[in-house]
Amino acid sequence: MTTRKHLKLGAMLHGIGGTMAGWRHPEAIADASVNFELYKSWVQKAEAGKLDLVFVADGLYINEKSTPHFLNRFEPIAILSALAAVSKHIGLVGTLSTSYSEPFTVARQFGTIDKISHGRAGWNIVTSPLEGTALNYSKKEHPEHDLRYRIAGEFLEVTRGLWDSWEDDAFIRDKESGVFFDPEKMHTLNHKGEFFSVKGPLNIARSEQGHPVIFQAGASEVGKNYAAKEADAVFTGHENVQEAVKFYQEIKQRAASFGRSSDDVLIFPGISPIVGQTDEEAERKYEEIASLVTVENALNYLGRFFEHHDFSQYPLDEPFPELGDLGKNSFQSGTDKIKQTAKDNNWTLRQVALQVSTPRSQFIGTPSKVADQIQEWFEAGAADGFMLHAAVPNGLEDFVDLVVPILQERGLFRTEYESTTLRGNLGLRIPANRYTRTEVKQ
Ligand SMILES: Cc1cc2nc3c(=O)[nH]c(=O)nc-3n(C[C@H](O)[C@H](O)[C@H](O)COP(=O)(O)O)c2cc1C
Repeated sequence: MTTRKHLKLGAMLHGIGGTMAGWRHPEAIADASVNFELYKSWVQKAEAGKLDLVFVADGLYINEKSTPHFLNRFEPIAILSALAAVSKHIGLVGTLSTSYSEPFTVARQFGTIDKISHGRAGWNIVTSPLEGTALNYSKKEHPEHDLRYRIAGEFLEVTRGLWDSWEDDAFIRDKESGVFFDPEKMHTLNHKGEFFSVKGPLNIARSEQGHPVIFQAGASEVGKNYAAKEADAVFTGHENVQEAVKFYQEIKQRAASFGRSSDDVLIFPGISPIVGQTDEEAERKYEEIASLVTVENALNYLGRFFEHHDFSQYPLDEPFPELGDLGKNSFQSGTDKIKQTAKDNNWTLRQVALQVSTPRSQFIGTPSKVADQIQEWFEAGAADGFMLHAAVPNGLEDFVDLVVPILQERGLFRTEYESTTLRGNLGLRIPANRYTRTEVKQ
């Protein structure tokens, strides 16, 4: 169970939402995924609610079957830079793939957001699930699942090394003497590894929080080890509190086996709260969104997890088809779970497709009921915080206006930011610069 008094909250900024047909809702803003004014209003709303962070997910391959939000949306680094300028306190976390980027570029990009925002940046490390991504990056093939995590390991090692290129007092900028920097405090990485060869130094120094906060999303065996060893925070998804507690304990135990404290890695299950004046009204809001999704939509949504597999070729009302290893090289932990759940429940293809494409949130009801659920998960040791995903129009606004005050009244959530940095608000340590930490001070 967590020793923290306060839970942490992040809000996903996810345009028109994660469903295939949510954009058709009468109150949905149909161009939300590329509507900067809306993103700006969301970040400011989240900040007014004292949320820890906003979070931008991402992907690098689309086709005609993709979820509408994926077809036309903001690139995370660019949108977060813009949002940094219209916010003051809230953390800005963006997804970027280690399979299709260069550490030097990524270190610069997040280093820059961290500087612009005075220490509020976070990087959600993903390894890119979809094989089609290779076709957009001049690559012959998509690296295999476990290899992607090996690349991610070295990638982060290099990036962290680059972030330490400059000691905090390296820049003297003395106009009189003409000394701009102290060469003793500039460090060249000279990394030569299995996948990357990077000399350094990086051309931007550390921010107030040392390094951007490292998030990770991915829950296979290698994914969990990666999270436990490297991440400051893990973004995850669970069907119920028991499953979430198990995952939480597993990551904390694995972190300890890597010599870390259990407080060094925070667990953020994603949740989709739907708030209504009554439980019935909230339930109706869910039904309204779910009923917009056609069977064809649902099959396409499901198909994406399996490399955009064409599920329309199978009978809808017969048992979920045998797929062999399909999906192993993409969303491995996700596809393993879908196959297992289908088997355990003896579900048909239709049931699986609807379950995956319109999952029924556990967090539906009046504001106090949603707060109860959050409290229950937090106190059961299922979460250090939650990543909120608005499942219906005005979902974030309703949560901030109606649920946050209840969590505050119950002493579960802050009423003021504790710090100016994301690390500070999350209660995470500032990583010492590797070049100063072993230095013997005279
Ligand atoms: C909660 C969650 C959120 C994710 N978000 C993203 C994302 O925004 N972009 C992305 O490319 N992959 C995302 N992924 C996919 C993972 O990065 C990873 O590629 C995939 O889950 C396969 O790894 P695994 O088998 O270790 O889970 C997410 C995965 C999870 C579980």
